[in-house]
Amino acid sequence: MTLLKLENVVKKFSGLVAVNNVSLELHEGEILGLIGPNGAGKTTLFHTICGFHKPTTGTILLNGEAVHGLKPELMCKKGVARTFQIVQPFGNLTLLENVIVGAFNTVGSYKEASKLAMQQLEYMGMEKKAQDRMKDLTFAEQKKVEVARALATKPKVLFLDEVMSGLNPTEVNEFIELIKDIRNSGITIFFIEHLMSAVMALSDRVVVMHLGEKIAEGSPTVVTKDPKVVEAYLGEELDEVKEVKEYA
Ligand SMILES: Nc1ncnc2c1ncn2[C@@H]1O[C@H](COP(=O)(O)OP(=O)(O)OP(=O)(O)O)[C@@H](O)[C@H]1O
Ligand SMILES: [Mg+2]
Repeated sequence: MTLLKLENVVKKFSGLVAVNNVSLELHEGEILGLIGPNGAGKTTLFHTICGFHKPTTGTILLNGEAVHGLKPELMCKKGVARTFQIVQPFGNLTLLENVIVGAFNTVGSYKEASKLAMQQLEYMGMEKKAQDRMKDLTFAEQKKVEVARALATKPKVLFLDEVMSGLNPTEVNEFIELIKDIRNSGITIFFIEHLMSAVMALSDRVVVMHLGEKIAEGSPTVVTKDPKVVEAYLGEELDEVKEVKEYA
């Protein structure tokens, strides 16, 4: 079943067309990967779907309902949650307080929000750090709290923007398992990632963007062999080489 449908979505910044006529579908229960070179328009597409930008033109349907142009908090109420490419922690708040912010999406009292937030921290294996300040965490831990905060909103669909960038291989493997587990709990996932090993391990389907346009879509094995994708993004490099660069 189609959960999210984009029809001819365009996002322009003055003269720059960051997203150019993108149409795609996100199916309920799937993990959809979004790849493409730097500046391809991936984050702008996420911002446009999640309500941080209004599309210049085009239609965005969530469960058949037009949602383009709705504010992020309304999209969140409708079950759309996200993490950010650059982590957005409330540094002086504790982990628990950071996650409580997300929990208030569906519950009204502090007590209930706190309980829900604590459950999410337990899910992440971070309950012992609940009272630590965000700014004292490692980068990987901050990324986990971002995911916990997004999950605390009780989403139907989770958008992850390069959640694995900057992590070491062990942490990446942990995140791969975490994302599979989140999907198995019934949440649909749309994720942007440069790390091709993670894209291959996780994606049911992959969409490729280049210069604002969707240039390919399909299973990860087929898409990564597509000459247009190789030329625009993957080059002739072996995955292993690309990964080493990612970690450098
Ligand atoms: N708020 C903005 N105002 C003007 N231009 C913007 C804005 N946000 C993004 N852009 C431009 O839109 C284009 C697409 O940027 P975007 O951040 O969406 O790319 P991306 O695919 O996420 O790249 P990366 O892989 O580096 O994160 C770029 O040329 C960028 O400079
Ligand atoms: Mg980006």
